[in-house]
Amino acid sequence: MFSCIFREGNIYKNLCGGQWTESSAGERIKIYSPVDDSLIGEIQAQTRADVDFAIQNAKEAQKEWAKIPTSERADIIHKAARIMEKYEEEIADVLVKEIAKAKSSAISEVKRTVDFMHFTAETAKRMTGETIYGDAFPGFDKTKISLVERVPLGVILCISPFNYPVNLSISKIAPALAGGNSVVFKPPTQGSISAMYLGQIFCEAGLPGGVLNIVTGKGSELGDYLITHPGIDMINFTGSTEVGQHIAKEAGMIPLLLELGGKDAAIVLEDCDLDETAQNIVKGAFNYSGQRCTAVKRVLVMESIADELASKIVAEVAKLTVGRPEDDAQITPLINDKAADFVQELIDDAIEKGAKLLIGNKREKRYIWPTVFDYVTEDMRIAWEEPFGPVLPIMRVKTIEEAIDISNKSEYGLQGCVFTKNIDKAFAIAQKLEVGTVQINNKTERGPDHFPFLGVKASGLGTQGIRYSIEAMTRSKAIVINLDKDFQ
Ligand code: NAP
Ligand code: G3H
Repeated sequence: MFSCIFREGNIYKNLCGGQWTESSAGERIKIYSPVDDSLIGEIQAQTRADVDFAIQNAKEAQKEWAKIPTSERADIIHKAARIMEKYEEEIADVLVKEIAKAKSSAISEVKRTVDFMHFTAETAKRMTGETIYGDAFPGFDKTKISLVERVPLGVILCISPFNYPVNLSISKIAPALAGGNSVVFKPPTQGSISAMYLGQIFCEAGLPGGVLNIVTGKGSELGDYLITHPGIDMINFTGSTEVGQHIAKEAGMIPLLLELGGKDAAIVLEDCDLDETAQNIVKGAFNYSGQRCTAVKRVLVMESIADELASKIVAEVAKLTVGRPEDDAQITPLINDKAADFVQELIDDAIEKGAKLLIGNKREKRYIWPTVFDYVTEDMRIAWEEPFGPVLPIMRVKTIEEAIDISNKSEYGLQGCVFTKNIDKAFAIAQKLEVGTVQINNKTERGPDHFPFLGVKASGLGTQGIRYSIEAMTRSKAIVINLDKDFQ
């Protein structure tokens, strides 16, 4: 059994300055399960003074942490990964209760996190600087040499969303630590119990006190104080476009890495394998009930094959199970009532404006049955807005140009995908889509985690992915040697 130093009964404490701390105001937030409203536990509602304490500890600890050899920092990350592996089942059970993620997906999230940590540790050891001689530039010779290395930025504020509270936290924390930074980590409130296992795990792995500090409390109350704090040297955020844009306005002149919302389109051409395409689209749209930034959020299909594709999609959707995450149902309750109300609004708007309902539009509290609309048009909200729920709109297009145009009209630019057997057409489309990544003959998705992952337009700023994340959380530092020309 996991030795839960961070928990007394069902009250959770935070790792801060190498100690397990409570809110200085003595206040806590109760975390209820979206599955059955049962109380899972209580987390600390921290204050501004607690934030100051966390950042001060992070600032002091970072100086020593940066001096530790990269191989030793990597060893600690490897050790933390092994500890996490041992407790995979326990963390997955918390994910099931806290964010209603199906048990098999919760296990996958933990396994992926373990792999991410090992890969990060190995990548950090293989990152090198460069030596540049002056003679490539007119008027200079080889006596001028720039030695360029990467140095940490300092204290990184890592903020993660509810849908991957473990994996999208480690995707910030591990590369930040590997690069010699210290971390102030603000987990999502709904998801914080799962995320706080990371504190326990790093503590057991021997991470020096103050290098990782956790702050819990509602983003709406504590967020602005954190993001504008002068002790923060960089913010690495994943979450909604609304909060991301707010951070970009408020944070001032510090580096930002923002991974935000999406409205990923699947463009389907006449010559694709329709069975595989339908299966891919349904997985992409409905995994974790559509609560993924990279979910397929609209289908743009050529008119001539639209009937056939739609009926294959419906046949796949009809197989999806709706139920409790512990029973490994594919469609589980949405994260809260507000999220389910929002999805229902988009469904109602589409019906009112004449979309053809193919399947779904059934709701019981936070359960929304997987819903597919055909004949969705540009005046409908579901054509543009991110539902973050199990609803898929199909839009029929006459030409490839029309598909590209509708795809690019979106405010978002996370990913897109193209289904066709014609690689020339696929490439031509991929080059025109205004997104971070285009998948050819596969659903949109983030992994594997050493690939670059980024959004453009309202979908983000900067690039994630193991090496890219380490680079984003470090900077170049050049030391220039000027040799005596007489010795040349
Ligand atoms: P969210 O409401 O934006 O919350 C994300 C995080 O920001 C939470 O930890 C939240 O804390 C915190 N927060 C809220 N207000 C803040 C403020 N003023 N300052 C600082 N932090 C603040 O997003 P979510 O509902 O958890 O996640 C769903 C959204 O994330 C979707 O739009 C999805 O597309 C996007 N997402 C994007 C990616 C990507 O990689 N592109 C990945 C996953 C999710 P509280 O929980 O305490 O409110
Ligand atoms: O929710 C956003 C995640 O970054 C998506 O990751 O494509 O592996 O589910 P995923």
